[in-house]
Amino acid sequence: MKVAILGYGTVGSGVFEVINSNPAGIARRAGEEVTVKYVLDLRDFPGDPVESVLVHDFAKIVDDPEVGVVVEVMGGVEPAYTFVKEALLKGKSVCTSNKELVAKHGAELLEIAKQKKENFLFEASVGGGIPIIRPLNQSLTVDEIQEITGILNGTTNYILTKMREEGLDFDTVLADAQAKGYAERNPEADVEGYDAGRKIAILTSLAYGMQVDYEDIYTEGITKITKDDIAYALTAGADIKLFGTSRAVDGQVYAMVAPRMIDKSHPLYAVNDVFNAVLVRGNFLGDVMFYGKGAGKLPTASAVVSDVVDAVKHQGKHVMTLWNSRKLKLADMNTLVNKFFVRVPENEKEKANCLFSVEREFTAEDVKGQYAFLTAPMAEGDFHAAAEQLTVLNYIRAELA
Ligand code: HSE
Repeated sequence: MKVAILGYGTVGSGVFEVINSNPAGIARRAGEEVTVKYVLDLRDFPGDPVESVLVHDFAKIVDDPEVGVVVEVMGGVEPAYTFVKEALLKGKSVCTSNKELVAKHGAELLEIAKQKKENFLFEASVGGGIPIIRPLNQSLTVDEIQEITGILNGTTNYILTKMREEGLDFDTVLADAQAKGYAERNPEADVEGYDAGRKIAILTSLAYGMQVDYEDIYTEGITKITKDDIAYALTAGADIKLFGTSRAVDGQVYAMVAPRMIDKSHPLYAVNDVFNAVLVRGNFLGDVMFYGKGAGKLPTASAVVSDVVDAVKHQGKHVMTLWNSRKLKLADMNTLVNKFFVRVPENEKEKANCLFSVEREFTAEDVKGQYAFLTAPMAEGDFHAAAEQLTVLNYIRAELA
């Protein structure tokens, strides 16, 4: 099998390295030898081993009948979408790590792959190296999925971990993470939750077999979390994580990305630093959890190459995936019930106690002049109506025993 890789960035060079580093093992598992015939990139890489297979023109790849699998690791919707669609229409399987592409065009590209009896595989698009797409498609096929909750973004998990460990504010930790190269220079997609939104959109589409548009998902990032929130959480034996969640309640599906205050009883409590984890709750199975590196060159490349092996094993046979382009209408967030951690100025304590059913009060040694409390479970809409009447300094949805 001859493979072409589109993009020689971090993931692309990782895929090239992984395929070349274990050819015998890959051949044994794929059932035939797998070699990289082309790598497409606009740039030149003098002295790099990729030089001998580097091309600058996609036509050379798509017009070569010897290429049976195309690996797309360029990122972004265009030109990735055009290239992937063309490759599928030419009867080539495609393996991608590109969550923007999968979230936006996954259903359509899967349909083309099905018609062509080829495969469109995207294990690395969610959770990097963690196997989650294949388990959802092929293992968790008996249960009704009641909930998927994931820590789906390594950058924000790293920032929240550092804020907690070092008692620092968001801006300080972000600047440090950028200086060390852990966070992008433009961190918006990560810190505003958009990246996690695309990933939970993909998982939810697969779980329910219909299209979930990430634009429809209620999305809050971590930029409003302060060291005061973390100080209160710590005193209560809790922590704050950015969750992508979809939950089926009474036949409707809610989906959201938002920070959540959790305690040690939550299965995702111990997921720190750049690690990702996904918790899936099935009606028969109960909870299963997938944990590992959600980003990085070699973990992501490992997932992409596992797709290549799968594509080689299933040449001429489409591996069924339940995801059609019919849109899944998400439930109205205002009806979703949560507990809320809330901080207000101390002089609004009385008013807060009139407006909310307060389940618990929080203390934090170093925070002065504030009143922090946990509400009883209440609908989002009711929460916002009451919160409008106070000077809310911050609120975080909470799952505390
Ligand atoms: N920016 C992403 C993260 C990379 O921080 O998790 C992996 O999709």
